[in-house]
Amino acid sequence: MMKNIKITAIVGSLRKDSYNRQLALAAKASLKDLAEFEILEYADVPLMNQDIEFPAPAAVSRVREIIKASDGIWFFTPEYNHYFSGVLKNLIDWLSRPVSETEPQVLTGKPAAISGVTPGMSGTALSQDHLVTLISYLNMDVMNVPRLTIPSIMQQLNKDAKLELTASAPYLEKQAKEFVSFIRNR
Ligand SMILES: Cc1cc2nc3c(=O)[nH]c(=O)nc-3n(C[C@H](O)[C@H](O)[C@H](O)COP(=O)(O)O)c2cc1C
Repeated sequence: MMKNIKITAIVGSLRKDSYNRQLALAAKASLKDLAEFEILEYADVPLMNQDIEFPAPAAVSRVREIIKASDGIWFFTPEYNHYFSGVLKNLIDWLSRPVSETEPQVLTGKPAAISGVTPGMSGTALSQDHLVTLISYLNMDVMNVPRLTIPSIMQQLNKDAKLELTASAPYLEKQAKEFVSFIRNR
């Protein structure tokens, strides 16, 4: 029997009604039973400060354990000033540091996929390019094709102003399937 795949979603927005969080939930639905899928909750991770790095704060240990137990990480990034968000950079900075003198950082070699959505025209392309530069530097195993950039999200909302993908739905489904294959082929 094939091993169950565990994908952890990292959403670069802490906003309750975040479109990127809603996109992560749509990705979960697209994956069906191909993989387990969990959104990482990290609002309690403190600002990086080397004065508090060792021993790691409890929230940092918790997120590191979740990443270690994941077969793949799927980023859902907003675009803030043509970049990804500060909260995401802060989380990645914590994850980029060795766990201890004998245990390396937890992102090395992890398969990564990237998607993002904006109300405007950019669809997060610039933010994603910056994120690829960072996570490649950290030795993540990035699936560069396909990535998903969704502009003008107001055109894919339902009457309750919630994300309900129409034109982008097949692309999300394709990315979900390809990410599972990408992970299985590693
Ligand atoms: C500080 C800040 C900077 C932003 N810069 C951009 C930008 O460069 N390009 C863009 O398309 N949208 C930009 N936006 C708008 C976001 O795309 C929009 O608020 C989006 O809904 C955020 O993602 P979320 O819905 O997942 O929270 C910015 C928003 C904030 C708060």
